[in-house]
Amino acid sequence: MTDRRAWVSHAVGLLEADANRSADTHLHVFPLPPEWGIDLYLKDESVHPTGSLKHRLARSLLLYGLVGGQIGPDTVLVEASSGSTAVSEAYFARMLGLEFITVVPRSTSPEKIELIEFAGGRCHFVDEPLEVYAEAERLAAERGGHYLDQFTYAERATDWRGNNNIADSVFQQLRRERFPVPTWIVVGAGTGGTSATFGRYVRYHRHDTRVAVVDPEGSAFFDAWRTGDRAYATGRASRIEGIGRPRVEASFVPTVVDEMMRIPDAESIAAIRLLRDRTLHWAGGSTGTNLAGAFRLIAGMLARGERGSVVTLICDGGARYAGTYYDDAWIAAHGMQLAPYRARMDRFLETGEWSDDV
Ligand SMILES: Cc1ncc(COP(=O)(O)O)c(C=O)c1O
Repeated sequence: MTDRRAWVSHAVGLLEADANRSADTHLHVFPLPPEWGIDLYLKDESVHPTGSLKHRLARSLLLYGLVGGQIGPDTVLVEASSGSTAVSEAYFARMLGLEFITVVPRSTSPEKIELIEFAGGRCHFVDEPLEVYAEAERLAAERGGHYLDQFTYAERATDWRGNNNIADSVFQQLRRERFPVPTWIVVGAGTGGTSATFGRYVRYHRHDTRVAVVDPEGSAFFDAWRTGDRAYATGRASRIEGIGRPRVEASFVPTVVDEMMRIPDAESIAAIRLLRDRTLHWAGGSTGTNLAGAFRLIAGMLARGERGSVVTLICDGGARYAGTYYDDAWIAAHGMQLAPYRARMDRFLETGEWSDDV
């Protein structure tokens, strides 16, 4: 075996050992009135070593590059991410002794930059959110490195058949529940990789589970899915970190998405505060978007007299957002009114009714 192949073999072993050291993430029950006959579960991805659902993706992208021959002992790794993915990729790059650079918009929060640097990564700044892709490509070429490119490869690097992917883990953990095959799975989309994994998994395993994707304000996914126009773009950055994109990313697979909902940002943030108050789970904004979407679908099931289970994700922890989503001054500065959305959700959890207007 060549030195390079021996290094790759060792590197794969390190990543597999990390997977072996990690316990599976919990599946929590969100308290709903028992008489509804509906169970809501939260898959808690915030407990991964790097604090988000991106721990799985980063490991898959590194493995994909290693077994594909693109990553070797001196490869500089480059990504376009200001968030969770960069934190997780930096963690694995350091584990393999590789340099990691992520291209981020200059507007990225100091907290996120600190997290990436703490994990061993370096940030390279661009002025406009849409410049990150080309700059990451340029930087990788300039350094003779490898552009991990989560937006293109997320849907390819993850094994949708099983192999302990997030969907497999959820279905394993539901096996002893009264509704082991969920009616709905609700997720957001950043790369689109998570929704693609769930969508393919339920079709491959022939479950009649449907996948719903929630989208924040200003994101391109909802209108693109509704109209079928993949070229649709808004050019706008999302205020809900991790989800919502200014363009339709390559890893978004609309043909495995059964339903989409646009969720107001103020509602996403009101929902994570409700989650904290009712369960003591602190979560990031994209979890609130998920929860608001799940409530809508449960209201629909109740109205139709359906029983069953619904699963959604806690995508990352709330500590990262103490200075934003959990800060009333930040909320006010961004002109958001949380109270009407909170009142609607509290009323829904009391009565089961979901009023269209807030
Ligand atoms: C916090 C958070 N939630 C949700 C997502 C969406 O996941 P995906 O990229 O698989 O669509 C991301 C993606 O970066 C994220 O960071």
